[in-house]
Amino acid sequence: MKKLFLALSIVLLLLAGFAGYINYQGIPSYEVKLTDYHASMTPEAIERGKKLTLMLCAGCHMDRPTGKLIGTQMLDAPPEFGKIYSRNITQDKEHGIGDWTDAELLYLLRTGVKRDGQYIPPYMAKLTVMADQDVDAIISFLRSDDLLVAADPSPGHDSEVAFLTKLLSHLAWKPMPMPTQEIPMPDSTNEVQLGKYLAQNLECFSCHSADFKTNNYLNPEKSDGYFGGGNATLNQKGQVIRTANLTPHETGLGDWTQEKFVKALRFGLKPGEHALRPPMYPYTHLTDGEAAAIFKYLQTIDPIDNKVDRVFYD
Ligand code: HEC
Ligand code: HEC
Repeated sequence: MKKLFLALSIVLLLLAGFAGYINYQGIPSYEVKLTDYHASMTPEAIERGKKLTLMLCAGCHMDRPTGKLIGTQMLDAPPEFGKIYSRNITQDKEHGIGDWTDAELLYLLRTGVKRDGQYIPPYMAKLTVMADQDVDAIISFLRSDDLLVAADPSPGHDSEVAFLTKLLSHLAWKPMPMPTQEIPMPDSTNEVQLGKYLAQNLECFSCHSADFKTNNYLNPEKSDGYFGGGNATLNQKGQVIRTANLTPHETGLGDWTQEKFVKALRFGLKPGEHALRPPMYPYTHLTDGEAAAIFKYLQTIDPIDNKVDRVFYD
């Protein structure tokens, strides 16, 4: 009996020590290996980058009352992760990213590791499979003289990260690798290829597969329930809104026309039905052609039988 008690006490002490260590250490840091990279800053890149930034970054980084990219509280992040705030990504040198180098931005966007080595948990998306040219477009835009990224001195908030986030950052989550080979743009004359590229890089698959936890960000098609929906996302009130099944099954988009899809995607509207709710924000910056390409691609993937329970709240 005494021996068992002693053994248990030791285990408990070790566990408490481990928990204390994790809590004290916080989110782990990693080595930052910068490459020799300078944003191209061409007018075409800046224009494309603006569109991508509005679709991919603004949802999290825009403060809705001011319309500025000065950071805001992530009301749709699971509360058990803590109180998470995105950051000021305008060109302010003190509170924004005005004094980050192009290479530091590239490293963060690809891997999730900040220039001081701190890792950003999955509450910020990483650009793991995006073409080099598109990542360059985003960075060129962030560096441009567009009013949306003009220096703004709002200090923003530090995230109040919960113990669970720290623990998972030590045990489960890891930075993404920097690509070792060039990632080319998709062949834009091949609609299905273009649609696949957009569906994977605009994060559609990330929300629309079975669960964030089983997504494969390096090889999206290997995600559990790829595009089968049912993933429990949260709206700004913290209510669960399950994602729709987008596969060509009758429980998904099986009987949808391209026209219906384009309208739903670009404007959030389904004739005679409920408008689409956050976090499915309309993709107004996509062209009809790009939206149609996504539809054509989705029609080619394996159908998944998954009737998603669409709960409507008052
Ligand atoms: C799903 C939400 C989300 C998306 C999408 C997102 N971010 Fe973030 N981002 C965050 C959060 C939250 C932080 C703060 C993390 C922290 O401090 O630990 C952050 C931090 C950053 C930082 C670090 C700033 C600093 O001063 O530490 C940069 C730069 C950044 N994001 C740029 C971008 C860009 C560019 C995009 C689009 C390609 C983007 N983010 C998309 C949520 C997001
Ligand atoms: C942040 C998570 C998120 C992202 C990113 C996202 N969606 Fe959604 N989407 C949802 C949710 C949640 C719904 C369900 C909305 C509702 O029930 O009102 C939805 C609904 C839809 C619908 C309506 C389907 C139906 O049966 O009503 C379509 C079409 C769609 N999304 C396409 C896309 C495409 C294409 C992309 C990428 C360009 C995308 N979504 C990105 C979360 C997301």
